[in-house]
Amino acid sequence: MVREWDPRTAPSVEIESVLATLNAAVSVDLPDDPPWRGESFREYLSVTMPGERRVCWLAESSPGAAARGEPVLGQANVLLLGDIGVLDLVVHPKARRAGLGRELLGAAVRRAFGEGFRSMGVEVVGDTPAARFYERYGFRCAFVEIRNVLKMSTVDWQRLGEMAGGVGAGYRVEFYPGGPPEDLFEAYAEAKEIVRESYELGDLELRPSSYDPDRLRDSLATLHGRGLKPYIVLGVHESTGKVAGLTEVVVPAQRPTRADQYDTVVVPKHRGYGLGRAIKARMLFELRSAEPRVTEVQTWNAYENEPMLKVNSELGFEPDRQWSEYEADVADLARRLQVNFG
Ligand SMILES: CC(C)(COP(=O)(O)OP(=O)(O)OC[C@H]1O[C@@H](n2cnc3c(N)ncnc32)[C@H](O)[C@@H]1OP(=O)(O)O)[C@@H](O)C(=O)NCCC(=O)NCCS
Repeated sequence: MVREWDPRTAPSVEIESVLATLNAAVSVDLPDDPPWRGESFREYLSVTMPGERRVCWLAESSPGAAARGEPVLGQANVLLLGDIGVLDLVVHPKARRAGLGRELLGAAVRRAFGEGFRSMGVEVVGDTPAARFYERYGFRCAFVEIRNVLKMSTVDWQRLGEMAGGVGAGYRVEFYPGGPPEDLFEAYAEAKEIVRESYELGDLELRPSSYDPDRLRDSLATLHGRGLKPYIVLGVHESTGKVAGLTEVVVPAQRPTRADQYDTVVVPKHRGYGLGRAIKARMLFELRSAEPRVTEVQTWNAYENEPMLKVNSELGFEPDRQWSEYEADVADLARRLQVNFG
């Protein structure tokens, strides 16, 4: 039984059933990850950037099972943005290999194809059945990253203090809980744009990003709306007032012990002055006092990004597992899945 489902209006008991299934999958696929909590989980599923839509489906053993508090058998959602559909799909470990994944994928493909979306992307966690499942339907690996995890309990705070202070003359480091102030939006977005243009990594950009001030404003509002609290550390070039480097961490209400380190970028002409290491080190100090519940920080890096991998390992991040982006052509998926439009 697969049906479309709207987390904005769903009864709370259904939201909890979806959470229970997600946690059953986490305990099997990512046993070292903390379980998800119910705080702002509805908002996490509901809120999107302006112009984007998330469509969700549930698989139940019988009609009304989720409303009776039984864990759902599976859940899928697709975020429709630009001409890409970004998929998220999970099947309860006890319900796998019975065709449910295929059925949920079929529902998402039918919608994406019907609305004219060209490609579909999905994040595939290494060492889980997901890669074989998506490859079976023609998805191809477009981009490989490695997830790195830092345990706060292993941090050498004295050494970290030296790293935080070890920034070249002419720069100052600033911390902004909640996001950068409005008067820095322009400089912040400009730094991101410069770095984006200097990379050709083939990233499908499945994660939120902000390359202009309006988009940055929307993206911060979306993060807050989804229960994801952003923290920013900036390296400012004092003589020009330009943002020379920035790092972003998000603490999810749904997983308050594990923070996500998003982008860290240093504008090319400001590289070589210790900024990348200093801003990341300062962030860890700030997190320790602002978010005492955080015990781990996770981040994702491309294998090719050697400078960032080196900074991460100096800070104490340890490689955890492969994390890939897969993509497929929607029309091709529709054909392979024999999606029925009747
Ligand atoms: C990937 C996933 C969605 C597959 O769901 P499923 O309902 O078991 O998939 P289906 O039964 O529809 O499988 C369809 C086909 O995919 C392939 N496949 C699925 N699981 C596979 C596995 N473990 N090994 C090999 N092939 C597999 C097979 O070709 C299968 O067809 P078959 O059973 O006729 O051989 C499911 O394993 C899942 O939820 N994984 C979550 C992984 C994840 O991301 N975890 C981290 C976040 S919680």
